[in-house]
Amino acid sequence: MTDTVTSALANLASEDRTFPPSAEFAAQANVDASIYAEADADRVAFWGERARRLTWAEPFEQVLDWSDAPFAKWFVGGKLNVAVNCLDRHVEAGLGDRVAYYFEGEPEGERSSITYRELTERVCQAANVLEGLGVRAGDRVAIYMPMVPETVVAMLACARIGAPHTVVFGGFSADALATRILDCDARVVLTADGGWRKGAEVPLKSVVDEALEQCPDVRSTVVVRRTGSAVTMTEGRDLWWHDTVDAAERTHEAQAFDAEHPLYVMYTSGTTGKPKGILHTSAGYLLGAAWSQWEVFDLKPETDVYWTAADIGWVTGHSYVVYGPLANATTSVIYEGAPDAPHRGRWWEIVERYKVSILYCAPTAIRTFMKWGAEIPAKYDLSSLRLIGSVGEPINPEAYVWYREHIGGGRTPVVDTWWQTETGSLMISPLPGVTAGKPGAAMRALPGIGADVVDDAGNPVPDGSGGYLVLTEPWPSMLRGIWGDDERYRETYWSRFPGKYFAGDGAKKDADGDLWLLGRVDDVMNVAGHRLSTTEIESALVANPKVAEAAVVGATDETTGQAVVAFVILRGEAGDGGPEIARELRDWVAKQIGKIARPRQILVVAELPKTRSGKIMRRLLRDVAEDRAVGDVTTLADTTVMDTIRVGMASAT
Ligand code: WT7
Repeated sequence: MTDTVTSALANLASEDRTFPPSAEFAAQANVDASIYAEADADRVAFWGERARRLTWAEPFEQVLDWSDAPFAKWFVGGKLNVAVNCLDRHVEAGLGDRVAYYFEGEPEGERSSITYRELTERVCQAANVLEGLGVRAGDRVAIYMPMVPETVVAMLACARIGAPHTVVFGGFSADALATRILDCDARVVLTADGGWRKGAEVPLKSVVDEALEQCPDVRSTVVVRRTGSAVTMTEGRDLWWHDTVDAAERTHEAQAFDAEHPLYVMYTSGTTGKPKGILHTSAGYLLGAAWSQWEVFDLKPETDVYWTAADIGWVTGHSYVVYGPLANATTSVIYEGAPDAPHRGRWWEIVERYKVSILYCAPTAIRTFMKWGAEIPAKYDLSSLRLIGSVGEPINPEAYVWYREHIGGGRTPVVDTWWQTETGSLMISPLPGVTAGKPGAAMRALPGIGADVVDDAGNPVPDGSGGYLVLTEPWPSMLRGIWGDDERYRETYWSRFPGKYFAGDGAKKDADGDLWLLGRVDDVMNVAGHRLSTTEIESALVANPKVAEAAVVGATDETTGQAVVAFVILRGEAGDGGPEIARELRDWVAKQIGKIARPRQILVVAELPKTRSGKIMRRLLRDVAEDRAVGDVTTLADTTVMDTIRVGMASAT
């Protein structure tokens, strides 16, 4: 067990509060406890039954083909169109006038809404434009856009024509964007001039221009005008969205694709420097997103107003802003900007205005609101909320209780949902009408999902013990591989514990057998719910001409969960680097990877703690970064190194 996990275990030992659902909530909940028994009786049949929520152009013949494990095929022989499932079928069912999204731009007063009928038309228009640009089923399309409804239109248009999209979060740098475009060989990029964040423009088109210098095969871009700032349009390559999409035909005949047709590739950080392109396919993914939203968020599509406050550029946005909600004909909210723009009550103003009934966000946001003070949400009417959820990292019990009390009015169930980019949809979570929630615990594998905690040898640990989280059965929304790298897929997820999916997280089973997530056990950090690789940031630092060596750790941070702290050895010719070196290197990392990866702290050191075999002992660096007594140093090649680093740290702060 890693040291992070051991200390997390100690902190949780004293938590014994529980919050059972109210009788009223339980009575109206979409699912009751019998759902577990149904799933346990026959897992595969359970999923086959759930698949009726989708509209099939051709029915499937087999629910699961696992004969080529770990490469799964779900709903073999079935055909459908994902966009038709998200849009056309609702319009045909008479729901065309239902609002699909309330859009709230960051600049105050910029509001709009779009109905299912309007969204369907726009998606058809965009699909026609993409086809006109020569995009065919199977071709990849990159999307680098702000949090605006056009981003949903872009994704659904790709889905409609069977062209897998790869959405790159707007905070990523030109290099990071180029790497992703090249890795999946996208030839068309959908973007915008920019977006708004904290009152300033986040430029996007200029970043695309820079990225495309490295991507000669990209032949077209389509640019949404969002901020109205000046952009350079390259003749013959760049088109405006309003000149093309808005002018296109409003109908489009959708073709049905195989259940396993690729839907999208989402890049995420792994333990090496190279991001992994996580591949999701059509029917199983859509089912996972839609069913879990209905089951866990107790969604009542006729009456709920649902808000996942996450960027569409991450998997949370894919599954719970776009695919799940649309497949269920949900009315959702999209908010473009920051929670404190222009004031710290912005989220609560949005909840009040749209009467949001279900809110889903990350612990890092909750901790920020705690810091800002309960008097801010108290100024708004939050009585419309009936269920609130958390995702992205372990939620500390205090944050859970604060969230329930000050946002949920002491009334709403809280669902702490564990899942990953790879899992596509929620895996471990309370059921709000069934489970007595424990603050800080994600509780149980959802019906139809198999999860366990195992020891180093892969044996399940007894209740009351910790170990590694594994998923024991294939599930419909599971990743189908890593784009272009089958070997890495087997190696990363299926080799550590043969036959089981290794999630990379530490977990504990409490005395009742409920699951507590304890953070990553590999070289992956979780900063504000975003996954970052230590190796990737180290590589970025070493790419700077002044840096000889670098070691990065995730240090505990009150607000962001973890924060990036880097220890660097400078090259001889850089001298001591000068007074600006820390800032220079922080900015360098932001430029190389994106602002989310910018280290909180950079320490220039003379040496790094290494074992005799040359492995950097990050555990010791984490002790320093978290200002703790340094642990066991006996395996260091040079045991005095840590003293030198400590002294350096003290003088730097
Ligand atoms: C990693 C996945 C999937 C949503 C956003 C992040 C951590 C996620 C929880 C939770 C404890 C959690 C895990 C996981 N994580 N949800 N409820 N409790 N940890 O997606 O970037 O793929 O990161 O986030 O460490 O492995 P992601």
